[in-house]
Amino acid sequence: MTTILNIISSPRGEASISNKLSNAIIDKLLERDPSLIVKVKDLTKSPFPHLEESHLNAFFTPVEKHTEIDKIAIKHSDEAIKELMNADIIVLGAPMYNFGIPSTLKAWIDHIARAGITFKYTPDGPQGLVKGKKIYLAVATGGIYSSGQSIPYDFVVPYLKTFLGFIGITDISVIRAEGLAIPDIQEQALKNAIDNMII
Ligand SMILES: Cc1cc2nc3c(=O)[nH]c(=O)nc-3n(C[C@H](O)[C@H](O)[C@H](O)COP(=O)(O)O)c2cc1C
Repeated sequence: MTTILNIISSPRGEASISNKLSNAIIDKLLERDPSLIVKVKDLTKSPFPHLEESHLNAFFTPVEKHTEIDKIAIKHSDEAIKELMNADIIVLGAPMYNFGIPSTLKAWIDHIARAGITFKYTPDGPQGLVKGKKIYLAVATGGIYSSGQSIPYDFVVPYLKTFLGFIGITDISVIRAEGLAIPDIQEQALKNAIDNMII
């Protein structure tokens, strides 16, 4: 059983371009293998909290020493990591918000980055522990960041690639719908992304 985990971080539902792009990627994957199981994680419907002291205490306390407070604090993180580990393919929808990712997505990242579980430090440096995954990034931006003068301001794709690589996910395909705020380009941006994507 091969599972796709579809992570949604735009709150705009059916109007969202990153959601539409994610759905187009998933449709294409299903075309190729109709037996794929799709699981949806909508970060906007049940957002992860900002990291608080209780979360960090629980993260850095060995499981056998967890108090009831630690157990409650770590529950969402454990669940999110389990969902990630159980997925074979991840389709991650990421709008650009103020040059970065939405805070809901950042909060999820903060809960899945766990020393000893999703990464570890070795004498040779950090090592990712989330192995054997394929990820598609469905990125939606108002401007254009893959070429031209705004390349230096693309903090979304390099950041996601860096973080995902850090936890061991290195097979990354980026599909961008860009120029969504630019007249003359916006109408075709999603169609261009879907027509040209290599899945
Ligand atoms: C709060 C907010 C901040 C945004 N900031 C940027 C930005 O910094 N750069 C950019 O190119 N587009 C920006 N946009 C445009 C979005 O990236 C674009 O509308 C995208 O389609 C949103 O994703 P969605 O359609 O999946 O919701 C912003 C949009 C919103 C709502």
